[in-house]
Amino acid sequence: MANNINMSATEPFEAEQWQAGEHQLVCVEKWNETHDVMSFRFQGIKPVKFHFKPGQFLTLLLDINGEKIGRSYTISSSPSRPFSVVLTVKQIEGGKVSNYLANHLEVGHVVRALGPDGAFNLIDIAADNYLFLSAGCGITPMYSMSRWLADTQISPDVCFLHSAKSTEDLIFKQSLEQIAERSSQFKLNYILENVDAEPCAHVDQQAGRLSADNLQRLVPDYQSRTVFVCGPEPYMAAVKALLESLNFNMAQFHQESFGSFKGDLAELAAAKESADSVESDDGGFMLRIGDRVRSMSSAQTVLDGVEAEGLPIIAACRSGVCGACKCKVVEGETESSSQMSLTADEIAQGYVLACSTKLKSDVTLEL
Ligand SMILES: Cc1cc2nc3c(=O)[nH]c(=O)nc-3n(C[C@H](O)[C@H](O)[C@H](O)COP(=O)(O)OP(=O)(O)OC[C@H]3O[C@@H](n4cnc5c(N)ncnc54)[C@H](O)[C@@H]3O)c2cc1C
Ligand code: FES
Repeated sequence: MANNINMSATEPFEAEQWQAGEHQLVCVEKWNETHDVMSFRFQGIKPVKFHFKPGQFLTLLLDINGEKIGRSYTISSSPSRPFSVVLTVKQIEGGKVSNYLANHLEVGHVVRALGPDGAFNLIDIAADNYLFLSAGCGITPMYSMSRWLADTQISPDVCFLHSAKSTEDLIFKQSLEQIAERSSQFKLNYILENVDAEPCAHVDQQAGRLSADNLQRLVPDYQSRTVFVCGPEPYMAAVKALLESLNFNMAQFHQESFGSFKGDLAELAAAKESADSVESDDGGFMLRIGDRVRSMSSAQTVLDGVEAEGLPIIAACRSGVCGACKCKVVEGETESSSQMSLTADEIAQGYVLACSTKLKSDVTLEL
């Protein structure tokens, strides 16, 4: 559960520089963006100057009714306004953390957070011309990027196509429209599944989803742009397939996944069940953690083994993005499908992402 804290308005203002790692943040403001999306502004417990790249995320480490649980959220604010960070969260039906935040995280509560992290940002992927493609809450990284570009007046040419169900679902609408009004280099278009009868600024009057037709019509020079994509998994898969079908140069294609949601809880349950029942006859290996020894099948990840043993580990994205499940291989050989968010030093020391790592020999692990 988040703690409560009283902020003293009389404390002298000495901002420390924020470093990557674990932080305690206090919620100082909370507001609705749309009917199912809420933003939370956080500051350091002591004044902190936040240092992050536009597009990066934090991982909140929460204790909800005794269950340790982590989830990543993109920082939707801009690093050009560095004395607070804003996280913007869509409430997912049945979602543990998004509903906990909306219903129980109040101003004055303190949360633990890891980060900032993420290679999906404007600093590491610099270009002259961008095409931002987002849907739903996938707008958060593009919004941070747009605000940063507007504040710093670094003016690459940006075309922003955001997809949503209707105008009621448009997050950051007013602020994005202000950026578009102020800069001829920033073109904003909304693609809506349900278009109002009254024409609305920036809304493409043809209802539907992103397609070859509206892409070519709204961004005729899209082939020359560096593309950033973020949104629900089906949207991202459809955009990728669309661009591939248009012979887009995929070296200019960058996407951020918010995790593999399709039935992930069911997958987790299945993985746990198979972890519980597995014998060491799958050509598998032994995983040692402290005094626990577990037989693992070749299909299982280190995370499956740790969770099956009931040991404490936080897995926010379960897809090798957030870095929350980092742990150290003390002995043995492993194979990782992602090392995202690990530094070269950490990799050299033997750190792996448990969710993305399988055993290649017997392994001793340190949590
Ligand atoms: C790098 C990164 C950045 C992210 N940034 C943001 C952000 O800026 N804003 C934001 O709102 N979320 C963001 N997410 C997603 C966020 O971390 C959580 O996954 C999300 O809030 C759902 O968590 P939950 O605990 O409420 O749902 P869970 O309890 O994890 O899931 C409940 C059920 O909903 C399904 N589900 C989970 N998430 C979704 C979804 N997005 N759409 C449809 N079904 C879903 C699950 O499969 C499950 O069946 C980000 C994720 C990553 C990895
Ligand atoms: S859970 Fe996010 S990297 Fe493993």
